[in-house]
Amino acid sequence: MLDLGSGSGRDCYMLSKLVGQKGHVTGIDMTDEQLELSRQYIDFHTEKFGFQQPNVEFIKGYIEDLKAANIKDNRYDVIISNCVINLSPDKKAVLREAYRVLKDGGEIYFSDMYINKALPAELKENKLLWGEGIGGALTWKELFHIAAEIGFCTPRLVTARYITVNEDLKNIVGDRKFVSATFRLFKVPQDAVKIKSQAVYNGGITGYEDKLEFDANFTFKVGEAVEVDQELGRILKRSRFADKFSLQEAEKMPCSESSHPIKETIGDPFEFAEAESNGAQSLCSGDNFEGGRCS
Ligand SMILES: C[S@@+](CC[C@H](N)C(=O)[O-])C[C@H]1O[C@@H](n2cnc3c(N)ncnc32)[C@H](O)[C@@H]1O
Repeated sequence: MLDLGSGSGRDCYMLSKLVGQKGHVTGIDMTDEQLELSRQYIDFHTEKFGFQQPNVEFIKGYIEDLKAANIKDNRYDVIISNCVINLSPDKKAVLREAYRVLKDGGEIYFSDMYINKALPAELKENKLLWGEGIGGALTWKELFHIAAEIGFCTPRLVTARYITVNEDLKNIVGDRKFVSATFRLFKVPQDAVKIKSQAVYNGGITGYEDKLEFDANFTFKVGEAVEVDQELGRILKRSRFADKFSLQEAEKMPCSESSHPIKETIGDPFEFAEAESNGAQSLCSGDNFEGGRCS
């Protein structure tokens, strides 16, 4: 796994435990002080997790140019990033590099700030806004556009919540709103499943034995057939989830009580955050889902 902008290394150590001794985690950061800080805890965690040798490394580099940091093509299963891509002046380069170093079937799972209305060019350069991560915030549609240009599947919204900004910032940005949102972007070959299918989660993922909350739109309950669109079918068939799901072409499936038609999915993090702030439960959390949808 790779963490873009690993900072103090906190997320890398959490991943280190998850992937175990046979896995490996790389954190990349451009700041010497952060690298030094993160490296201080390698021995501590190696011992704490009972590993024979460290499974984490921290390397110096810019996330816009992973090649310069000697990261080869098709190297990682999963990339994560938290509050970093937003700070990059060239987000397309970051996502293009992420795509290059991901294996087929891999994904980048990342959280960042988004703005509901793009800022004019002069405000994007405003030092205060840039320092707060606001100057660099994309609209969610810009993210979808960049992802499509690079070849990623449509970004899948996981969660989002409103971010409140202080009065000084409000005076500059006006009535614009901000959310912190998490998206998953998969790299899967284009030629796989072409038709909509029914997916059945067979379980087998530790911690998700009964149901798998895949994103804001889909929660799969073990043994239940859920109709999924072509792209999600492709993702499930071509990613690390492949051996956890049974997929069947929807047209060939007999109608059954346990199947449900494809639902409208939500990609707009502001719509999601609005629903959450109005007191709605997470779209598909808890037990209020049925056939992969909220009931
Ligand atoms: C807000 S911190 C987030 C750190 C960590 N991801 C976390 O959640 O705690 C941003 C980090 O990204 C790094 N960073 C920002 N822009 C970068 C770039 N273009 N290339 C590499 N690292 C970058 C900074 O040095 C800093 O450590």
